[in-house]
Amino acid sequence: MATTTIYSKLLLTLTLWVAFTAIRNNLVSGSCARRSGCEQICVDVNITSGEYSCQCRRGYKLHTDNETCVVSPVPKPFLTANNSYVELPSLSDLVPIQTIIELTMKPTSLDGTILFTGYSVLSQTADFILLTLEGGHVVFRYDLGSGPAEIRSLQSIENNTWISIKASRWGRVGVLRVNGDTGVVGLSLGTASRLNLKGYLYLGRHPSPCLMPQFASSSISVTGCVEKVVINYQTLDLNGPQVKNFIVDNCSPCSNGGPCQNGGICKDSTLGNYMCLCPCGFNNTNCETAQDRIPRIAKFTGDGYLMYTDDSITRCVQGARTSFLLTIKPLSTSGLIFWSGQSTFPSVSGHGKQFIALNLCDGMLQLRFNLGTGDALVNVSHPTLFDGNYHTIRVQRTGNRASLSVGRSGGMAISPGSGYYLRTNRKVYLGAVPDMWEVTEGRYSTSFEGCLRTWIFEQCGPVVMLTRDFYVAANIENCLFG
Ligand SMILES: *[C@@H]1O[C@H](CO)[C@@H](O)[C@H](O)[C@H]1NC(C)=O
Ligand SMILES: *[C@@H]1O[C@H](CO)[C@@H](O)[C@H](O)[C@H]1NC(C)=O
Ligand SMILES: *[C@@H]1O[C@H](CO)[C@@H](O)[C@H](O)[C@H]1NC(C)=O
Ligand SMILES: *[C@@H]1O[C@H](CO)[C@@H](O)[C@H](O)[C@H]1NC(C)=O
Ligand SMILES: *[C@@H]1O[C@H](CO)[C@@H](O)[C@H](O)[C@H]1NC(C)=O
Ligand SMILES: *[C@@H]1O[C@H](CO)[C@@H](O)[C@H](O)[C@H]1NC(C)=O
Repeated sequence: MATTTIYSKLLLTLTLWVAFTAIRNNLVSGSCARRSGCEQICVDVNITSGEYSCQCRRGYKLHTDNETCVVSPVPKPFLTANNSYVELPSLSDLVPIQTIIELTMKPTSLDGTILFTGYSVLSQTADFILLTLEGGHVVFRYDLGSGPAEIRSLQSIENNTWISIKASRWGRVGVLRVNGDTGVVGLSLGTASRLNLKGYLYLGRHPSPCLMPQFASSSISVTGCVEKVVINYQTLDLNGPQVKNFIVDNCSPCSNGGPCQNGGICKDSTLGNYMCLCPCGFNNTNCETAQDRIPRIAKFTGDGYLMYTDDSITRCVQGARTSFLLTIKPLSTSGLIFWSGQSTFPSVSGHGKQFIALNLCDGMLQLRFNLGTGDALVNVSHPTLFDGNYHTIRVQRTGNRASLSVGRSGGMAISPGSGYYLRTNRKVYLGAVPDMWEVTEGRYSTSFEGCLRTWIFEQCGPVVMLTRDFYVAANIENCLFG
């Protein structure tokens, strides 16, 4: 009896060990684990052949190098046709007693359904909420089960201009405000005072118009850009994973390439406006103006970064040695100055990813690195670092031993364990790294503010032209000559 138990325990342990080893080997042998250049997400396509592909999180898209992710604004829906719709999750229990709908859009038609929720094939209730445009007037209708309310805006709206609608109800009483006017009040019929919604919420018309209440214009969709929908103070995610679109385009000016030229990055701002973040050497609204000379100094204003991928730079950072001089003028006492490391995903060593980073932490200059065997940290404080002048920082690492110095202040550290070589994704960042908190596994969250003037890899190779040799320059808006 006892022997049987021991045998079955041994067998179980053995089975678990085999399974664990298989899983681990599989993980470790995937290309993503071994050598992935993916900046954000790496997916092993075929473990045998080593094929992998890179993906980006929402709000980013893959650069043409198929590895780097560049900011790509999440688009807003543009209802293009009279049968367009965006299907959003049901509001169901969110709104029985009180419903407050705030919606901003730019209609390009003066008749049609803006928003509808109520019926579903399965629901037995007559309750609904309906917002339409009828001859340019906004009409708010709702039914709590005993007869509809109909509230019509006094003013008609203008075609192709931004409008804001606030349609609210408390029990049977409803108020409709358009563009912040004083509002019109109405009352639903009968005695029902709770709204029982079952179906999805639609922007545009219902996919089965015969399930909609038969009011003029409710069977076609309004057309135009929808900027924002807020229900009971919760902004709806118009691009969430459960959202379905039918004949819907993007109304972001940044979609389809956007207007920014010369490698500028397009950023959406409110109400269909945009902003171009120009690389050094270019300016103006769409980065269309080339500056006469390329400025030499990169000024970081808080959310910008420079990324370098050139082999002559990355080989001086990774491997057995890292050695460079960087001349900086910090304008705030915290922020990430330099980062190079492995990609976010996956992190298999158990000691976090490998990286080397230089940052300011509350006035202290810090060099931190991890060779796969745990973090090492050098702190240096320098009395005049924030005096408004440039200071040259020296970073040197040979294997597991690294030193950091600025002026007469300096320090060194030896990393734990046997790690000697630094592996990175062959990307080097200055000023910040996109998705800093996640990418640095929670170590850094603040971007550098200040100026960088020179960057020299003295023992390895190049004098980097900060504002010319980059691969991505994001939000380095102010470049200075000097
Ligand atoms: C994976 O790669 C191997 C070796 O190149 C190939 O034989 C196999 O068909 C591939 N599998 C798939 C699913 O593509
Ligand atoms: C990126 O992937 C696309 C499609 O798979 C391919 O056509 C293109 O050549 C790749 N680009 C690079 C730089 O590898
Ligand atoms: C919707 O648009 C199509 C094509 O533009 C048109 O043929 C159709 O009559 C329109 N339907 C309504 C109800 O206006
Ligand atoms: C509204 O403006 C859009 C875009 O300029 C135009 O295509 C459409 O014909 C206009 N509609 C009306 C009813 O004026
Ligand atoms: C663009 O840069 C030039 C200097 O090269 C400057 O004269 C001009 O005012 C700048 N324009 C804008 C819009 O910032
Ligand atoms: C470096 O500074 C940090 C934060 O001020 C502190 O937690 C850490 O103990 C210091 N480490 C060394 C090695 O001085």
